[in-house]
Amino acid sequence: MTATDAPAQTARLAITPLRAEHAPLLFPLLADPRLYAYVPDSARATVAALAQRFAQLELGAPEASGEVWLNWVLMRRDRGAPVGTLQATVAPHSHAWIGYTLEPSAWGQGFASEACTWLLADLPQRYGVREIAASVDVRNARSIALLERLGFERVTTEVAELRGEPSTDHRYRLLCKP
Ligand SMILES: CC(C)(COP(=O)(O)OP(=O)(O)OC[C@H]1O[C@@H](n2cnc3c(N)ncnc32)[C@H](O)[C@@H]1OP(=O)(O)O)[C@@H](O)C(=O)NCCC(=O)NCCS
Repeated sequence: MTATDAPAQTARLAITPLRAEHAPLLFPLLADPRLYAYVPDSARATVAALAQRFAQLELGAPEASGEVWLNWVLMRRDRGAPVGTLQATVAPHSHAWIGYTLEPSAWGQGFASEACTWLLADLPQRYGVREIAASVDVRNARSIALLERLGFERVTTEVAELRGEPSTDHRYRLLCKP
């Protein structure tokens, strides 16, 4: 389903719907291997490959899935420069998954917390989401700290696979206030 994401602002961030044309801007940021240490994704080899990926996301989820794919660029308002990306998959039955990536030079300054705090309010308001989930590799201490700071509770820990190697993921959820 085509995303109906809209731009938003927080104190320090402009949260802008991701488009294929953002590929040249985000390519250097998303090339950093540290971003993929604990996630089943990898840097695209070329700007064109990244633009193709973004174009797919822009098209949205297959109609039959009943999902809505939401993807944004996080821009620092003071510098007008990107610091990362934010995403949500809104599934049927008022359920959503979230994901986030910040360039390493922006870690430790609360930008992901700021963006996610906005998202956790936006998903219930605009999409009627009642439960938000995230899956995180047990070694991803920064992401675990972020989720727990946001009020997520750990519900399960399950066996996973990361680039062909066995791994373990925590599953977190947040029940949205009615
Ligand atoms: C996961 C990730 C986004 C977390 O980034 P982060 O910068 O640690 O998270 P936050 O933006 O919430 O910042 C928290 C830090 O900022 C500090 N901070 C400063 N101002 C803050 C504020 N206003 N609010 C919250 N924290 C603030 C916190 O004290 C904390 O500091 P610490 O790192 O010394 O503990 C980042 O590590 C990342 O992009 N990793 C690679 C991609 C990834 O793994 N994604 C998740 C997959 S599950």
